[in-house]
Amino acid sequence: MDLASRYPAVSDLKARAKRRLPRFVWDYLDSATGDEATARRNRAALDAVLLPPSILHGEIDPDPATMLFGRPQPLPVGVAPVGMSGLVWPGAERHLAEAATEAGLPYALSTVATMLPEEVGPATQGEGWFQIYPPRDPEIRADMLRRAKDAGFRVLVLTVDVPAPSRRERQVRGGLRQPPRLTPRLALQTALRPAWALAMARTGLPRMALIEAYAADLQKSSLPSTAHAGYLLRTSPDMEYLRWLRDAWDGPFVVKGVLRADDAKRLEAEGVDALWISNHAGRQFDAAPATAEALPAIRAATKLPLILDGGVESGLDILRARALGADFVMMGRAWHYALAALGPRGPAHLIDILRADLIANMHQLGAATLADLPAPVYPPGFSP
Ligand SMILES: Cc1cc2nc3c(=O)[nH]c(=O)nc-3n(C[C@H](O)[C@H](O)[C@H](O)COP(=O)(O)O)c2cc1C
Repeated sequence: MDLASRYPAVSDLKARAKRRLPRFVWDYLDSATGDEATARRNRAALDAVLLPPSILHGEIDPDPATMLFGRPQPLPVGVAPVGMSGLVWPGAERHLAEAATEAGLPYALSTVATMLPEEVGPATQGEGWFQIYPPRDPEIRADMLRRAKDAGFRVLVLTVDVPAPSRRERQVRGGLRQPPRLTPRLALQTALRPAWALAMARTGLPRMALIEAYAADLQKSSLPSTAHAGYLLRTSPDMEYLRWLRDAWDGPFVVKGVLRADDAKRLEAEGVDALWISNHAGRQFDAAPATAEALPAIRAATKLPLILDGGVESGLDILRARALGADFVMMGRAWHYALAALGPRGPAHLIDILRADLIANMHQLGAATLADLPAPVYPPGFSP
């Protein structure tokens, strides 16, 4: 049976991923913080967006293409940065970059990925996005930007919604530590998941490649012993820091983790190129508004391109985000469900699912292009 028949939706990939991943890896990928209400809220807010079908348009041939940063995009969706991606599947970053680039979609590499910018950048063919958690040390900061640029990354994404480490209680309970180490408990979970264990046996457990390289350099130098991976990153940058980065980067500059209209206005005044509305999939703060709830007010406050993520699981969700005012959508976990479920052929299958779902639902809406989507409506009692 072909993939389209066996796994027609993201939920199929998610269910299979959960069966194939050791418990601690699943919990790393899937857990949010606190009671995980923000993660549920993201989903509920998307579900609440209704799009009235439009009829009698005759035959149309929907095209879900759009433009972003001056480039045509065949689909309005890409791959969000996910730290330690390679824990879900060996070589995850490169598999995702290749599949996304092949389909013309952007791939964003995390600062805390398991592969180096040099190992992944070439696969993005000059269209990659590099996500930065800001290094404290000015020399490391400049070096990181230079390495990302030289490796072929075009767009810089500054993530600002991690002012301090998250507590992420489910993950703590799961027993995963940084760097990952197979304690007897984790080894037992691994033994129960032979496909993952076999794939990982060839490479060993992955680590944060770029950060560990800098940490090793620092340890060789005369810096104090606090110069370990955690110290390297100044997780709570200020406006001064943002300006430095913006001026140092020759290419589109995006700020990720925006949820308020006043912040959107401030950032527009600072000359950033796009805002990324995100609550980090609920992984940081459990009283954050859903991204689909936050979007309309931000749309009203700024003319900047808006990117949205959080709980997006289908082409229909992407249309909902577009109808609410987003220009582009990113997905994080779903790509990793695809990898865990199907290995390296998973991401291309997910792209097929999204494309088919976008087109099927655009037919229902009588929308030949994304500019033809109707204004969304909300059920009574729900206001964004
Ligand atoms: C396991 C995991 C690791 C993540 N690591 C990062 C990261 O290193 N940098 C970052 O900016 N965002 C990170 N994020 C957040 C994603 O970029 C994105 O905002 C979020 O996953 C979108 O929601 P979705 O997974 O429901 O699509 C991570 C998310 C997950 C699930």
